[in-house]
Amino acid sequence: MIGIFDSGIGGLTVAREVRRQLPDYQLVYFGDTARTPYGNKSNETVIEYAIQDTQFLLDRGAQLIIIACNTASAVAADALKGQFPNTPIFEVVTPAVTAAQQQTKNKNIGVIGTRTTINTDIYRTKLLATDDTLNVTSKACPLFVPLAEEGLINDQITKMMAKRYLGPLKRHQIDTLILGCTHYPILRDVIQQKIGRRVTLVDPATPTVTAVRTYLQAHPDLDRSLERNSNHQYYFSDIPAHLQQLTTRWLGETIKPRQHHMQS
Ligand code: DGL
Repeated sequence: MIGIFDSGIGGLTVAREVRRQLPDYQLVYFGDTARTPYGNKSNETVIEYAIQDTQFLLDRGAQLIIIACNTASAVAADALKGQFPNTPIFEVVTPAVTAAQQQTKNKNIGVIGTRTTINTDIYRTKLLATDDTLNVTSKACPLFVPLAEEGLINDQITKMMAKRYLGPLKRHQIDTLILGCTHYPILRDVIQQKIGRRVTLVDPATPTVTAVRTYLQAHPDLDRSLERNSNHQYYFSDIPAHLQQLTTRWLGETIKPRQHHMQS
């Protein structure tokens, strides 16, 4: 099984991409809804949670892990690879960096994400490692997460916040913007409108799942051992009343959420 985890429901945007690019493969998803958000927690806490989330997916039978959460990818990927050396673990930052670097023409790239992701400066570090002539402008956009979860997609308040958050990136004349948080693709239209039609938006989910596909082609034994069926399992550490409605909207299909408690 392909295992995917996230701090909550945002990773369903990545699960959706897995369903699109690898439609036959069985998935197990874990969303840590009881402890979300990760994006304003300390690195130590995010690492601890990410290890527990991964262990849970492995216990459910996952043979390959996708860290859908940008914050966990930024902070915990190295720790997870150290902790689980025999499991292929994919994070979303590196594929997004490669995609953005290939996409930009004027070498001005913007990155938006949670506070914790932006504080690590991981996108800038990785972008400059691929090309040190790039200009990278980053901006934390913490309010985009609750706005997306509240479904305020085309709302005045979201447009106002987008204008405020994206203003500095616009002034730096970026031509490529990395949506460095699972929730931002949900607000894609507003972000595109405010940043301008000429800016290319990079959703890390797309190049990440492409990287998984490429890996599976290069590892036929693992590929053959992965189950192909539609018996996907979606676990959440808390199931609030509106979860069903959110999962349907974000995943684009109706699922039956199962509960798995995590210790805080
Ligand atoms: N999943 C998180 C991310 O992609 C956003 C939500 C959170 O802060 O937990 O960074």
